[in-house]
Amino acid sequence: MFIIGRTLTLPSISQITTLTVISIKRSYLALYLAHAITLEQLINMKKNLICLCLLACSALAFTVKPIKKTAKQFSYIDTVNRTIPDPTGFNATVQGQPVSLYVLKNNNKASVAITNYGARLVSIIVPDKGGNPTDVILGYDNIQSYQKRGEPYFGAIVGRYGNRIAKGKFTLGDKSYQLESVNGQNTLHSGSTGFYSRVFAAKQINDQQLQLTYFAKDGEGGFPGNLNVTVLYTLTNDNALKIEYTATTDQTTVINLTNHAYFNLNGAGSKTITADLLKINADNYLPIDNTSIPTGKLESVAGTPFDFRNFKAVGADIGQTNEQLKLANGYDHNFILNKHTANQPVATVKASGSGITMDVYTDQPGLQFYSGNFLNAFRKDGKGGIGYGSRSALCLETQHYPDSPNQPTFPSTVLEPGKKYHSVTTYKFSNK
Ligand code: BGC
Repeated sequence: MFIIGRTLTLPSISQITTLTVISIKRSYLALYLAHAITLEQLINMKKNLICLCLLACSALAFTVKPIKKTAKQFSYIDTVNRTIPDPTGFNATVQGQPVSLYVLKNNNKASVAITNYGARLVSIIVPDKGGNPTDVILGYDNIQSYQKRGEPYFGAIVGRYGNRIAKGKFTLGDKSYQLESVNGQNTLHSGSTGFYSRVFAAKQINDQQLQLTYFAKDGEGGFPGNLNVTVLYTLTNDNALKIEYTATTDQTTVINLTNHAYFNLNGAGSKTITADLLKINADNYLPIDNTSIPTGKLESVAGTPFDFRNFKAVGADIGQTNEQLKLANGYDHNFILNKHTANQPVATVKASGSGITMDVYTDQPGLQFYSGNFLNAFRKDGKGGIGYGSRSALCLETQHYPDSPNQPTFPSTVLEPGKKYHSVTTYKFSNK
């Protein structure tokens, strides 16, 4: 395996160490190294420095005692983030305005850290089944990392229109609007001036409530109407995080607000969410075209990988040959929520490692389930210097359907002057 063409390449130290660490016996290692040298290469050995090195390694394998089971057996407990980042990393001036970290705490071992940059959740810390604090969302340790290109939506409020608008165009009455196009040919999360990148004014009401407000000017990002937005975060004593959105406009506009938290209930830094059990109360979902815009058809989840009506591991069907999964490189689709009351969860996630369960409640008609397909561990500035790899978190974004302004059969996202936009979503955590 180390012979490429006629050149003998030296196995790297890490490859050798790995072999040792996983306790392959000394003799196997020697045999393996010897096997890698062909007779022809032995003849040429004097000239071949690389082969000499390999021989030296081989001799070493005979003389040095193998390391007996040195690989640390990591469990989710060793790798996950458990504390709120140092608030000093969040003291900054962005767009000429002050930015900080605000902390909510309850009397049941939960805390939530929020920055007013993007009205964003930085940490949600809840007890796991052993009572250990566990941070269940991905994020960074400072404002600068949030500002870098990469994944700019971690924990943020997205708006004025969350999700995609086809070709960044829509019409209201007799006026047409052209938005910024940022994701291929479509506008995603309102483009570069979306709310995830704006500084909100923060008012800490008490230990368990933070109010954030933002004034989006008429024309910002291409949207019509001066929009006043308020986001109220409340951490309740039963470990629920309630997000209440209100907004008013002075001109007819469109609005679709959501939170873009990336959840890993085994703790941020834990490798993948594919073993988590997921249930979504949806009989139908919205298939997409090859630019991730809904085709406009509703499709039944029955008999498809999109059937999460009973608990199923996120990864159970993700590898199936399915056109829709192929288009999104996994799940990245809006689920049409079945009729439900305010007390019925629309989705539930259970993580076996931590024992943490999250119930999602909302009054919104849709839920974008995104399985973190495009995350990559290239950047190593996640909390505590971690890189967040593909599918190391999932998003359950409560919202209206994508591209609603262009799809007359979808529930309307139009907000008229004199009317109030109001919506509530709650993420509730338990460990039983
Ligand atoms: C979208 C994904 C997108 C992700 C970006 C999600 O809301 O559905 O397509 O890649 O946001 O972070």
